[in-house]
Amino acid sequence: MSVISQGSGTISETAFATISSLAKAEAGLVLPHSKVTMVQSRLRTRLAATGIDTYEAYAKFVSAAEGSAERRLMISALTTNVSHFFRENHHFDILKKDALPELLRRAKSGKPVRIWSAGCSSGQEPYSIAMLILDATPELASLDTLILATDIDPKILEKAEVGQYSTQQITGIPEDMRKRYLKPGNSSDAHIVTPNVKRMVRFRELNLLHDWPMRTQFDVIFCRNVVIYFDTPTQDGLWPRFESALHPQGWFFLGHSERVSEQALPRFSSVGMTAYRPINASNATHA
Ligand SMILES: C[S@@+](CC[C@H](N)C(=O)[O-])C[C@H]1O[C@@H](n2cnc3c(N)ncnc32)[C@H](O)[C@@H]1O
Repeated sequence: MSVISQGSGTISETAFATISSLAKAEAGLVLPHSKVTMVQSRLRTRLAATGIDTYEAYAKFVSAAEGSAERRLMISALTTNVSHFFRENHHFDILKKDALPELLRRAKSGKPVRIWSAGCSSGQEPYSIAMLILDATPELASLDTLILATDIDPKILEKAEVGQYSTQQITGIPEDMRKRYLKPGNSSDAHIVTPNVKRMVRFRELNLLHDWPMRTQFDVIFCRNVVIYFDTPTQDGLWPRFESALHPQGWFFLGHSERVSEQALPRFSSVGMTAYRPINASNATHA
């Protein structure tokens, strides 16, 4: 059997093939051969945690029915969770200038306002949205407004719920907002988001490939830097689902290198870089 790389442990072609096809089937994650070193190093801690000696035996274990709990932890280890506060700030400009005033009108007329951060990772995205709402339209925060933040990775959701970040991680938050929406954490380098920010966000585990149990339509959906890890057929399966989950007057934001497919594009208007509204939404002429 050919061995792909050397180190404290090695992954065989067969083990890599089994793990990458499981990652695709379970989470939509595409792991081309170029990611073999990454996979090996990310799974090393899982081998140690399970006491399994070889990648071969680990691949066999996670493929079996009794390995289903470990399969979840394997996916958690394989996901890329990089995130920043106010990442791709142009989306927050659109949110502030165009969406929030309209959402405030809707909320004042008694309608609930629902925002979805799909693939929220460690929480920087939903907390940025909450901070912006509290800052720009505080009245909206006092009305029936909620941010649903979902991710496939249970471990990253635990971190997100805690909402504690290092000094380096909070650099994207404008200085004045840092003063208002962060308090000291459990070390001199730690900062925790304030309770009023946390109160606006509900974290839930959700695999985008599975059923979406939410029965509401969302006024705004952020799904940024998530579908980039999926192949085109998986992405194509998601566009109509996002379209159905989005309010006809809603906003939909993708990551900087993601685009809705040609097929789905006629049903969305572009309202900025990787920012969309359903085709018949009013004010859909921005940018
Ligand atoms: C790079 S982070 C993006 C975080 C944030 N949206 C941002 O742009 O900063 C990608 C996130 O997508 C999540 N993810 C990957 N596959 C997923 C799936 N099938 N369902 C739900 N979330 C998934 C990962 O766990 C990870 O936290």
